[in-house]
Amino acid sequence: MKIGILTGGGDCPGLNPVIRAVVRTALLNHEEVVGIRNGWKGLVENETLPLDAKAVSGILHRGGTILGTSRTNPYKEPAALEKLKKNFKNIDSLIAVGGEDTLGVAAKLFKEGFKVVGVPKTIDNDLSGTDFTFGFDTAVNIAMDAVDRLHSTAESHRRIMVVEVMGRHAGWIALHSGIAGGADLILIPEVPIKIDEVTESIKKRIARGKNFSIIVVAEGAKFDGNEVTLEKKLDAFGHVRLGGIGELLARRIEEATGFETRVTVLGHVQRGGSATAFDRVLGSRFGQKAVELVRKGQFGQMVALKANEIVSVPIETAVGKLKTVDKAFYEMARTFFG
Ligand code: F6P
Repeated sequence: MKIGILTGGGDCPGLNPVIRAVVRTALLNHEEVVGIRNGWKGLVENETLPLDAKAVSGILHRGGTILGTSRTNPYKEPAALEKLKKNFKNIDSLIAVGGEDTLGVAAKLFKEGFKVVGVPKTIDNDLSGTDFTFGFDTAVNIAMDAVDRLHSTAESHRRIMVVEVMGRHAGWIALHSGIAGGADLILIPEVPIKIDEVTESIKKRIARGKNFSIIVVAEGAKFDGNEVTLEKKLDAFGHVRLGGIGELLARRIEEATGFETRVTVLGHVQRGGSATAFDRVLGSRFGQKAVELVRKGQFGQMVALKANEIVSVPIETAVGKLKTVDKAFYEMARTFFG
């Protein structure tokens, strides 16, 4: 049996542990694994590399993906899709590691009869069907560390610090890093920003003698009902490049409170470098289970974490509806605001 594996979409810590686990599990049964370079692009262009024990040796702690990645959407171009389908014949089955976009393609291919298994990946943690995706824990820890560090400089200068973190549609990173780092306010895409409430809460803190504040804001948080974007151009999956909410917020806060305000945009730092132990273990468990699904012929399924068990769910479950922050969790976080 020849198993293909690709990693698509934005990279994240934990991808290499998944690749390593897939290869190590497959080799136990003398199955062959082929790496497909740069996501769906590699299957269109037939760019592959053999993955043996040597190829995955020493990659567990490495960030990124040894296979490379892209945001190529083969369903955008009929000719590319035809080439992909032709090249699919060179493998028996495929493990697609990715987020909503990559898995969306996987779900469509499965419907057309291709043997695909999914592995959920995104630092945003916004895929349904799984309690957590790998990469999220690492991103949260990086953001928490930044919030911790910003405390001392905020306090020394009596400033407001706005920290912009990733999270396109969901505020999981903002919420987890904000709670863990003791942020005074957390703003997420699911809850529209009311600028008066923001400035009021800062003023109340100042009145209590707290002359600094830390605000964590997700890049996808909406201002006047709109996302703040860096450019209007859409990628192959129809997403705009987000960015700028931190800067916008800081200007409005400074105007309203008179307090010096600074912005830190964490950006891709949250996706770089090696994974936490949690993400390495989750990635390893996902990779092992993905091969098991292939062996059992359970295609169209995605590996998932449910109540600390590794299970499988239809890929459709993950891509049908994004998992956003629920109201109750945000309300809990409010306890620590101000
Ligand atoms: O989807 C994961 C993510 O990191 C989002 O949080 C962010 O909006 C986006 O990817 C950034 O994408 P790119 O790497 O293309 O700038």
